[in-house]
Amino acid sequence: MTTLPSSPIKYAVIGGSGFYRMEAFEETEELFLDTPFGKPSDAIITGRLDGVPMAFLPRHGRGHLLLPSELPYRANIYALKMLGVEFVISISAVGSLREELKPLDVVIPDQFFDRTRGRTAESTFFGEGIVAHITFADPVCPVLCDALEAAGRELDGVTVHRGGTYLCMEGPAFSTRAESNVYRQWGMDIIGMTNLQEAKLAREAEMSYATLAMVTDYDCWHPGHADVTVEMVIDYLNRNVATAQRIVRGTLRRLAATNPTSPYASALKNAIMTRPDLVF
Ligand code: ADE
Repeated sequence: MTTLPSSPIKYAVIGGSGFYRMEAFEETEELFLDTPFGKPSDAIITGRLDGVPMAFLPRHGRGHLLLPSELPYRANIYALKMLGVEFVISISAVGSLREELKPLDVVIPDQFFDRTRGRTAESTFFGEGIVAHITFADPVCPVLCDALEAAGRELDGVTVHRGGTYLCMEGPAFSTRAESNVYRQWGMDIIGMTNLQEAKLAREAEMSYATLAMVTDYDCWHPGHADVTVEMVIDYLNRNVATAQRIVRGTLRRLAATNPTSPYASALKNAIMTRPDLVF
């Protein structure tokens, strides 16, 4: 395992499908970390973006080797915590469940809905003697979302939607048309396969988390658009990767200027039920 950097790195980006490296990232170093939950998806790249120290982790590994159900969610978040990260920006390709959320649009969701079923162990750091129930009614950080939104809105030709519910499905197959239609009736807005576990674990680790969702398709509910395929997702992502990079840069610039404290830095204060007097 590589040694940890001497000073904490406050900001991190987790890059999803099609987003395997950060442009304009300088003084980079690869860190191969080990955690009590195993190894993260890949080496974490640390460096500076416009002078701001940052860590970057490609969620599926640089060769896209891991399915959403195979991701080491706990190791990924734990490794970022080891670096001292307080704010996590997650860049993710999503399908749209609404006419007005068009491919190439950007969505900053404020809710998640869980439709995963094979990730119980990977959904919490707790258990085995420590009982904790974090408050998760509002799963994303408003400070991060404000910065993401402002950075997105300053870009010409980019449509940014603030708010909405991200349905997290198990995958790896995309949804059936019946499922897609039901999700729309439930009031869901976008669909993806990874962000719910990350958001939960980030909260348990007392870190801020927000999703920058890049719309790549209309899933399979839209009669006027072809059903989602991997080719479609990658095509739209490649067309949108520069936008995501620019939004991350603008977001970091804003955060570095205000140097906020995470609102979730004490998220465990009222969450742990296990009686310390009986355990320690
Ligand atoms: N990622 C991108 N498009 C998606 C879709 N339609 N369903 C699930 N995950 C996705």
